[in-house]
Amino acid sequence: MTIAKRRESERLRAERDAVIARSVRTLTDLFIEGASGHTLRDVDGREFTDLTGGIGVLTTGHRPDPVVRALRQQLDRYLHLCFMVFNYEPYVALAKALRGIAPLPDGKSAFFNSGAEAIENAVKTARASTGRPAIVSFQNSFHGRTLLTLSLTGKYQPYKVGFEPFAPEVYQAPFPYHYRCPPGHSEAECGPLALEGIERLFHAQVAPEKVAAIVFEPIQGEGGFIVPPKEFVRGLRELATKHGIVLVDDEVQAGLGRTARMFAIEHFGVQPDLVCTAKALGGGLPISGLTGRAEIMDAPVPGSIGGTFGGNPLACVAALENLRLIEASLEAGARLGKAISNRLEEIKEAHPLVGDVRGLGCMQALEFVRDPRTKESAREEAKAIQREARERGLLVLTAGMYDNVIRLLPPITMPPEAMARALDVLDESIGAVERSR
Ligand SMILES: Cc1ncc(COP(=O)(O)O)c(C=O)c1O
Repeated sequence: MTIAKRRESERLRAERDAVIARSVRTLTDLFIEGASGHTLRDVDGREFTDLTGGIGVLTTGHRPDPVVRALRQQLDRYLHLCFMVFNYEPYVALAKALRGIAPLPDGKSAFFNSGAEAIENAVKTARASTGRPAIVSFQNSFHGRTLLTLSLTGKYQPYKVGFEPFAPEVYQAPFPYHYRCPPGHSEAECGPLALEGIERLFHAQVAPEKVAAIVFEPIQGEGGFIVPPKEFVRGLRELATKHGIVLVDDEVQAGLGRTARMFAIEHFGVQPDLVCTAKALGGGLPISGLTGRAEIMDAPVPGSIGGTFGGNPLACVAALENLRLIEASLEAGARLGKAISNRLEEIKEAHPLVGDVRGLGCMQALEFVRDPRTKESAREEAKAIQREARERGLLVLTAGMYDNVIRLLPPITMPPEAMARALDVLDESIGAVERSR
């Protein structure tokens, strides 16, 4: 690296800190200049393998060709019209595409800019449809940073610090975390116990006939890639049906090809009433969707749902192309996911720091513990492994209630050889941290 180049990144970092709010934390100090597929290049000319995927956005990699081509064409048509003022075809076409793939029948859609907005609007829609106030969400969940979605979110640090009071009528139930079942209970009891937790909530805190929606992630993302047992998700469906509650499936992180199916909930054989998509939808453009059963989606009065930029034309054409690409890549993604999970199991065997390997498809994670018996969080070690990997040119994210999980979010289109090399680097990085303890 030349001195001139190094000065450039140092100058940019100093500038950043002077003008960007402290609350907006950036995981690395890298300034990125270019990106393609699974690779990033920084302003100092270094290359990195990117398994962060813009926190789960880049399911088809950086700048997928069909998305870039569609955007170029759209640039010559129109950039913004506002769907609340004019109709335009890409918005309708995207809703048709989602109807075709959604895990529920005859879906109608509305589009927004972020995952949090999709969840907010799911809650509004469920309330309008049921006439009820309360919402049940889960411990260890993440649904966004707006006041309502923050209120649904089941992790305090750092998201909620200093932002009280939260929205009322939100009730949090336990989520089955098979690696950390309550003491004295086996893994098999984890799902039924969590369902009992909801029943207890209905007796102790909120009557089920006051509950508009149960909002859940089919695999908890920020929570550390926790896959619940099938019976738990099926139990949620049964409870929702029994009490007339709208079941809201937050697929913002797990959806759209990430788990080798279009929607993560397909793994559980359950149909939700509303499904929220975002992150991967636009292939890098900001767009989110709320898709649901027509009678629920049509419950709020006309004009009550929308937003200036929601379903922006550029984002819609990007999403249309990206959904096609995801669909065409599902099988390759499933094969890649299998290879990742096999290799992670080998890594677990080789490294005592690895307590658990879990995930579905290309949504895989390692949980690090200091002692496999006590499962004491190895948060510092996980951070050290992340730093070691970065020194070796590999970028990964952490997650989890105890910040001791490394999660992998590769493009499902990533060449298997490149993924294998990345996992070798992860293996070496874990080894380096273990040796230094
Ligand atoms: C499951 C889930 N829901 C909602 C959100 C919020 O999405 P956004 O950051 O686009 O508002 C996230 C973001 O990480 C998420 O993982």
